[in-house]
Amino acid sequence: MKTIFSGIQPSGTLTLGNYLGAMKHFVDLQDDYKCYFCIVDEHAITVSQDRLKLRENIKSLAALYLASGIDTNRSTLFIQSEVPAHTQLGWMLQCVSYIGELERMTQFKDKSTDGKDAVSSGLLTYPPLMASDILLYQTDIVPVGDDQKQHLELTRNLAQRFNNKYNDIFTIPEVRIPKEGARIMSLQDPTKKMSKSDANQKAFISMLDEENKILKKIKSAVTDSEGIVKYDKENKPGVTNLLTIESICTGHTIADLENKYEGKGYGDFKIGVAESVISVLKPIQERYKELIESNELDDILDEGAQDASLKADKMLAKAKKAMGLGRVK
Ligand code: TYM
Repeated sequence: MKTIFSGIQPSGTLTLGNYLGAMKHFVDLQDDYKCYFCIVDEHAITVSQDRLKLRENIKSLAALYLASGIDTNRSTLFIQSEVPAHTQLGWMLQCVSYIGELERMTQFKDKSTDGKDAVSSGLLTYPPLMASDILLYQTDIVPVGDDQKQHLELTRNLAQRFNNKYNDIFTIPEVRIPKEGARIMSLQDPTKKMSKSDANQKAFISMLDEENKILKKIKSAVTDSEGIVKYDKENKPGVTNLLTIESICTGHTIADLENKYEGKGYGDFKIGVAESVISVLKPIQERYKELIESNELDDILDEGAQDASLKADKMLAKAKKAMGLGRVK
């Protein structure tokens, strides 16, 4: 059975973008692959985090994974910092990464616009840690949204470089980006991706937003003045984004939705989009509420860390041996 690995940062409540671009696909993949899903808290601290808020976000993300349909009888769900092999191999991979290639990562460039003295060095060395996450599990496929493509390319390069220089131990992972929904856009600026760290709350839908908040946010989404519901990424990015959202939430094709809204204004369209989002998020929110109040989470995460460590420690030992670290035992 092939192996899947993916991770999500506990840096705030997940957005509809995280769900449609990543989490929703994780759920379907469980039928055909051995899956590892990770709460990457060590990635989250590359930017400043409030201690108590981070703890809360970690737990909340665990509950959201489960509420969305991650089944821990089949898949492993765990917290990155509870499996020390991640930072250990992460360090080793930093030592095979070049500063130049890390500085070329667009996410690093975007987040370091205030100058190199304003960001942590962890933000620069984030990609080798991400490579370590993936390579520790002999991962075949990494399902992610579009914004992680460059990090995946670097992971492949680092794995190949390590294999060539030391020993051929790492599986070279493939990236899997969904055809639709790989880049859900901001509701306020549809040329920017929807992000949980957006200062404007109206720009994103959180997976835990209440019904009327979702309706309000979608009603105030930026569209255009044409009044025609048509898919056109270039000229109608706002309408296209909303069409994409409704299409994934309902399973209806874009063409069907264009027919549905023919002759109708954006008012009706936005209500339809909001209803489709609510119908997807409501059952998840109900399960979430039960889970977050139960004691189940701790046991699941303990088991997950144990299971992940078994696999990760073996790979770490191989990598240490290949590099000549420690003693021969
Ligand atoms: P993160 O936490 O930013 O996002 C988690 C997942 O959600 C996807 N995503 C989106 N998809 C569609 N539209 C959007 N607007 C949108 N915003 C986010 C992301 O592409 C991602 O798949 N570096 C990673 C976390 C990570 C990881 C890994 C992923 C660490 N180690 C190993 C895979 C494998 C990140 O910051 O994702």
